[in-house]
Amino acid sequence: MAPTTRQAKRESNSSAKNVESPRPSSSAATAAPVMEPSTRKKMTKNEKQEVRARARRWAENRHAADALAGSSEENEKAAENEEVAENKESVVDTPLPSLESHSSLVRMTEKQKTINLYYFFAVLPVALLIIGSQFLRAMISPPPSDYGSGSMFDSIAPRYDFINRALALNLDMSWRRRLVEEVVGTEGEIFSATHDTVKILDLATGTADVAILLGQAAARYNKNDPPLRTSSTTTDSATVLGLDPSQNMLDIGTTKVQNADLTNIVRLQLGDALKLDSLVDDTFNAVTMSFGIRNVPEKEIALCEIHRVLKKGPHFPHLRAHPKTVESKLAIMEFSEPTGPGIMAMLARIFIRHCVPAIGAILSGHPKEYMHLQKSIADFPPPTEFVRLMESLKCPIKKVGGDEELEIDTFGSFRVKEVINMLFGSVQIYIATPILKKYVTE
Ligand SMILES: C[S@@+](CC[C@H](N)C(=O)[O-])C[C@H]1O[C@@H](n2cnc3c(N)ncnc32)[C@H](O)[C@@H]1O
Repeated sequence: MAPTTRQAKRESNSSAKNVESPRPSSSAATAAPVMEPSTRKKMTKNEKQEVRARARRWAENRHAADALAGSSEENEKAAENEEVAENKESVVDTPLPSLESHSSLVRMTEKQKTINLYYFFAVLPVALLIIGSQFLRAMISPPPSDYGSGSMFDSIAPRYDFINRALALNLDMSWRRRLVEEVVGTEGEIFSATHDTVKILDLATGTADVAILLGQAAARYNKNDPPLRTSSTTTDSATVLGLDPSQNMLDIGTTKVQNADLTNIVRLQLGDALKLDSLVDDTFNAVTMSFGIRNVPEKEIALCEIHRVLKKGPHFPHLRAHPKTVESKLAIMEFSEPTGPGIMAMLARIFIRHCVPAIGAILSGHPKEYMHLQKSIADFPPPTEFVRLMESLKCPIKKVGGDEELEIDTFGSFRVKEVINMLFGSVQIYIATPILKKYVTE
């Protein structure tokens, strides 16, 4: 009992020592209250009770503060734990590459490797051709500027068609078909527009691809005035006349015309676009020239010869009187180096500059000729310039009646009606009609 009483006394003393005014903060609540010396006097029973009550409140406060501190620590810990858990979750959410997906990654790399290999093998031949064409340029003396005449084509004639198809991936025939369609019309309108025999001249006819297409159109549409089935070899009786200065090209063309059973419609003969002496003025309803004009050095002279032999309305009043008369036409198809900014134009440029001479040289065994081909394309004026050249011509015009006297106030020119671009601007078809102009006198 005694120790208990002493202990109670000690406790009450220590409790009394701990009495203090309530601290506002929880941290303050943890500090032990200090009893002022002035309070050390004998306490009454009431005072003792009050001190005990205050000590109890302090103990409660402290407990509460500890609990609060504990809970905030717990909260922090909990927050930390949550964060860790979240991180864990996010780690778990991001699936680690399974064995299967890993192998698909490996497969993708393999696929990429294959694609790279394809690229490599696609680019390799082009690179080789570029190197080859540069090598040719370095090794072979450049062709003279007048190269491209008939004799040059004589040497490449046997393989000309094959190389054409190979270089143009067989597209060249579709371009020629388009040219012919532009001339004869989709329904062969050129043949139904007049009662006269329709006559078409194909210059630089070569191996007669265009002449044959024209002949086939005539055979199909020329019902009103079918060509006579005679063995005549005169140019007058032919609907389609093909001229070329290369006999070897013409020989191959003649065989093709025979094979196509068009000998009664298509006639081929030697001839130079610069000198169409054998042909009379105002004879042809249409003139075609595919990939030929760039081989002609004096283009203006050839164009004026074409102008001369084309039918011109004012000289043929009966043509104008016919309600369905169509104007005569010149259709020229030619290459030009595409100048456009697009990737396809750039590829076409590389192809024409490097691939054409290199492939042509390999396939024909005549590198100089195919270097000339590329050079003549590079030298050919761009479409706008060629149009200007055609429209600014001043061709001499003979007086009506066919004598040699020239009109002094009239000259001939062309009006370009359409320029059809093909193959990313590397092939053009120029459609023009002959016109007569008067000099303006001041
Ligand atoms: C590239 S080939 C075109 C042949 C044919 N027109 C074609 O579409 O395949 C060029 C032709 O122009 C001929 N040529 C060269 N100089 C010529 C000229 N002054 N007049 C007419 N044709 C000419 C060549 O003999 C050759 O047959």
